[in-house]
Amino acid sequence: MTEYATLTVNGKTIELPVTEGKEGEKGIDIRRLRQETGYITFDPGFANTGSCKSTITYMDGEKGILRYRGIPIEELAEHSSFVETSYLLINGELPTRQKLNRTSVQLNDHSLIHEDMQNFYQNFPRASHPMGILSAMINALRSFYPELMTTDEGYEQTALRLLSKVRTMATMAYKISRGHKVEYPRPDYTYCANFLHMMFNTPVKPYIVRKELVKALNVFWILHADHEQNCSTSVVRSVGSARTNIYASISAGVSALWGDLHGGANQAVVQMLTEIYEQGLSVEKVVARAKDKKDPFRLMGFGHRVYKTYDPRAKILKKYVHEVLDKLNIDDPLLDIALELEEIAINDEYFQKYNLYPNVDFYSGILLKAMQIPTNMFTVMFAIGRLPGWIAQWRENLIDPEQRLVRPRQIYTGYNHRPYIPIDERVKDSEQW
Ligand code: CMC
Repeated sequence: MTEYATLTVNGKTIELPVTEGKEGEKGIDIRRLRQETGYITFDPGFANTGSCKSTITYMDGEKGILRYRGIPIEELAEHSSFVETSYLLINGELPTRQKLNRTSVQLNDHSLIHEDMQNFYQNFPRASHPMGILSAMINALRSFYPELMTTDEGYEQTALRLLSKVRTMATMAYKISRGHKVEYPRPDYTYCANFLHMMFNTPVKPYIVRKELVKALNVFWILHADHEQNCSTSVVRSVGSARTNIYASISAGVSALWGDLHGGANQAVVQMLTEIYEQGLSVEKVVARAKDKKDPFRLMGFGHRVYKTYDPRAKILKKYVHEVLDKLNIDDPLLDIALELEEIAINDEYFQKYNLYPNVDFYSGILLKAMQIPTNMFTVMFAIGRLPGWIAQWRENLIDPEQRLVRPRQIYTGYNHRPYIPIDERVKDSEQW
């Protein structure tokens, strides 16, 4: 039996159907609201708005649960690879061995990028942020690979092309920023091993790919692979809702991810920890600053729109950071500072009142640092990980008959109607002050 919510507005009562998800979460379907009452809803940041129905990722922010296509991330991090998890997100099911092997072969086939694209890279100023370069270059892929996802086969090909080429493109940005020769992928390496090889191998110093780092990178990317309707994914869906091609939509997603409040937080966390270390700042004082409402500073890597408990991804990353640093015999003072910050913050009344716990970005930077990834590439690492999620969500949006052009409304608070004033009759600048 359909459940209804009753709303009385301006003397009129309407019944709004309640829609229910597979895990029991409920939403009031307000699609008829404006038509029947003339009112709209007001929800800045869409914290209370469900923008779609989705079969891809489930999260419970109160219990700290995250599952891709029903499978808990803890199990994926333990047993799966990033390629297998990407397949799961993009196709809905775990692959058979045969399908997984075919996917690896296809990823290898797609791993080169058009040599002409190297010219673009060469012309970015050396100090450019790699996220800006990545966003521009993903958009440029549309010109080099104009075939689009109009069929299921086209979808699969474009998805594999993006997964493989974006990884190559990220390493190219790094090599070129250092003024080094671009390193090509090796057909005998797995997806993650190849990334490390393309990043760090040089003609004068062969890079030995360590299995501990390959495992850590797989885990890092699995944990970032999707996170339902986060800021960048909502951007990818919004841009896609205008029937914009997938490259441009994902390029916009990369730009959204760049911000400090979203994926850019992983870079901001390590910068914050480094500052504490290099300037010998007191951790208590840093926490006190984060609580000071007059100070815009926030404790980076803490808090989340949906999680009101410990982010399950941060839990796994914290464990991996310890394991990897131990295995590689690295003693990173930033880890000690992070642990101290966490200890003080989670026992602090302010952080408890606002339910602020470490999020995915709090420990991830220390793991990336152990892999020798430069700080300005951290958010690019996040972007490569989020690709399968963006691809799956873009596609789901495209084929969902309930989806329409994304076009929110607003409450206008500007001037009421007023006349145009000819230029000579306007108040002069000098009179305004
Ligand atoms: N340090 C200090 N205070 C905080 C923090 C923090 N990290 N996060 C939230 N608050 C306070 C905030 O000041 C606000 O207080 P008040 O209501 O008195 O003004 C209250 O908590 C609610 O904050 P909000 O910004 O309205 O909440 P939100 O759900 O919009 O914010 C967030 C989520 C992630 C933007 C925020 O927690 C934050 O800025 N965290 C630091 C940046 C960060 O780590 N971002 C990565 C997020 S996880 C990965 C991802 O999504 O990419």
